[in-house]
Amino acid sequence: MPDSTATAASPQVVAGLEGVVVAESSISYVDGQNGRLVYRGYQIEDLAAHSTFEETTKLLLDDALPRKGELEAFTAQLAAERALDERVLDLLHELPADAEPMAVLRTAVSAIGMFDPDATDDSREATRRKGMRLIAQFPTIVAAFDRLRNAEEPIEPREDLSHAANFLFMLKGEEPDPADARILDVCLILHAEHGMNASTFAARVTAATLSDLHSAVTSAVGTLKGSLHGGANQEVMRMLLEIEERGIDPAEYVREKLAAHEKVMGFGHRVYKTMDPRAPILRNFSKELGERTGHPQWYRMSETMLETMLAEKSINPNVDFFSASTYYALGIPVDLYTPIFAIARVSGWCTHVEAQYAHNRLIRPRAQYVGKRDLTYVPLDER
Ligand code: COA
Repeated sequence: MPDSTATAASPQVVAGLEGVVVAESSISYVDGQNGRLVYRGYQIEDLAAHSTFEETTKLLLDDALPRKGELEAFTAQLAAERALDERVLDLLHELPADAEPMAVLRTAVSAIGMFDPDATDDSREATRRKGMRLIAQFPTIVAAFDRLRNAEEPIEPREDLSHAANFLFMLKGEEPDPADARILDVCLILHAEHGMNASTFAARVTAATLSDLHSAVTSAVGTLKGSLHGGANQEVMRMLLEIEERGIDPAEYVREKLAAHEKVMGFGHRVYKTMDPRAPILRNFSKELGERTGHPQWYRMSETMLETMLAEKSINPNVDFFSASTYYALGIPVDLYTPIFAIARVSGWCTHVEAQYAHNRLIRPRAQYVGKRDLTYVPLDER
């Protein structure tokens, strides 16, 4: 209960910082009214059609599309940094097999920071080197943990495969179908950056204290893990699996959730007032893969859920909705969906940390105090 002594002149509280602009940024533009997403001036649809995760990462970091030689050098450098330090691998061996993969990722990022040769150097150049290593090693951490929890030895990364293809290779032990690798590559492009989202903001708050990149990225991984943010994609798949298991009509399932005032995961967005522009691209993948793998039911169920959400609440799907059925069709374990989001978003986090350092000011908002005042301290034996 707010205390009546709270001052009337207190500034207005903006719950969830909705609509608050906390920084200027030239990294990406999230146009919520028109459903557009632009990275460094390029439409997400163009990048999805023509770019690769490696090129998009270079674009984000350097604010320009690389020339051919620059991209080749960048790609080779990223590929050369994929292997984990032996001590980090030892740590992964020690973690419980039933640990949440996002908790493993958070722990591994923090541990990598212990052993990084630039650990205590926060210069621009060292931050870039550390960022390259983190971007390169995220897929290795996730795949290695998945192997270990299944009592299999991690598979060493290959330098001759793309970022996306190498991840699937380390996960499954065989070279992926090029079409599957390309779909994952586009998923990584779509998830690489998204303005001042919660995990990016967490990374920037940490960086703004002049803490180091590994601390900032650890904060970001912990923030992405929540089900209102990156954790939603795995919750979407759990809903689809539940619908199938119960043999219930997906429309009925959605209405049940809404009647119980529960959120339907994969729908709604703080910024987009129309369809999230990433959703239609993922919707096509979900459809295509469903047909190709002979399991079109996940896509069909998703479409029925979408129609019901629009009819009942006028709420559109977000990036997480169709990524669930896409990853399922790619044969990826459900609890790795959020780590895949992190594998992509680490590019955005590193870019934002560099931007924060370049024009830094401590991020320190205030709380409006509504608690008690002027109480008299009572000694312990008199309470
Ligand atoms: N299912 C059902 N209702 C939803 C909904 C969803 N997924 N998302 C929003 N709503 C409803 C809320 O119940 C609320 O209705 P009310 O005004 O009648 O109470 C209204 O829409 C506003 O929602 P709110 O949660 O206050 O919006 P927000 O801007 O704070 O939250 C999200 C944005 C993304 C957290 C929210 O839409 C959500 O929880 N979505 C599900 C999780 C998800 O998919 N997250 C990934 C985001 S990329």
